[in-house]
Amino acid sequence: MSKSTVTRLVLLAYIMCLTLGGSEDSVVDIYTELKELKYLVGELSSRLNTAEAAVTVQRALVEDLKKEYKERPKVAFSASLLSSESKQHGPINAETKLVFGKVLTNIGNAYNSTTGLFTAPVRGVYYFRFSGNGYAGHDMGLSIFKGDQRMMSVYEYHSSGESNDNASNGVTLQLDQGEVVYMKLWINSWVFLDGRYDYCSFSGFLLFPM
Ligand SMILES: *[C@@H]1O[C@H](CO)[C@@H](O)[C@H](O)[C@H]1NC(C)=O
Ligand SMILES: *[C@@H]1O[C@H](CO)[C@@H](O)[C@H](O)[C@H]1NC(C)=O
Repeated sequence: MSKSTVTRLVLLAYIMCLTLGGSEDSVVDIYTELKELKYLVGELSSRLNTAEAAVTVQRALVEDLKKEYKERPKVAFSASLLSSESKQHGPINAETKLVFGKVLTNIGNAYNSTTGLFTAPVRGVYYFRFSGNGYAGHDMGLSIFKGDQRMMSVYEYHSSGESNDNASNGVTLQLDQGEVVYMKLWINSWVFLDGRYDYCSFSGFLLFPM
């Protein structure tokens, strides 16, 4: 209700009181009431203006947040070493890249299962995990690389009379857009590929852009 509407209603009430023959005292009272009401209307109207301004600001904020959320890059992948049968991979007389060919998740397509490379689509902070299964009696060494830098590793030393060994590690990395992350098998070491259980994995996701 606008200020002028309220004022008009108050005036109407006042005129009705006069018409119905109120005493002189009650006329004075009505003036006082009217003044108070006018003050109140002024007060309410200014509070309404403040509230309306606040709602406008908040509406814009919600729109910004909605846009930011919608445009936020979504990056997450998980892949395992593909094999149709259980077998050893290695040993090779040079450290070699591992290509995790079986893709379980690849939101944002930042992981390439042909090359084994994860390429950061945006500058940000990413988390990676990897795990390997080493056949009893064989060494297994795995490292995660950012570009040509070794970031983190796992190593299992061969020993006789035990079952297969399992090792995993994880790392948080800050990457620029286009930087690559991948896994390597150490020189002269082995990794065991299980055709059914997928023990050897490489996963990663974007924590937040920077
Ligand atoms: C993966 O990399 C290969 C070799 O560079 C390329 O030909 C292929 O298009 C890439 N795949 C995707 C999905 O980007
Ligand atoms: C590693 O995992 C394999 C497969 O589940 C299992 O057979 C083996 O016993 C594990 N090794 C150890 C040391 O627990």
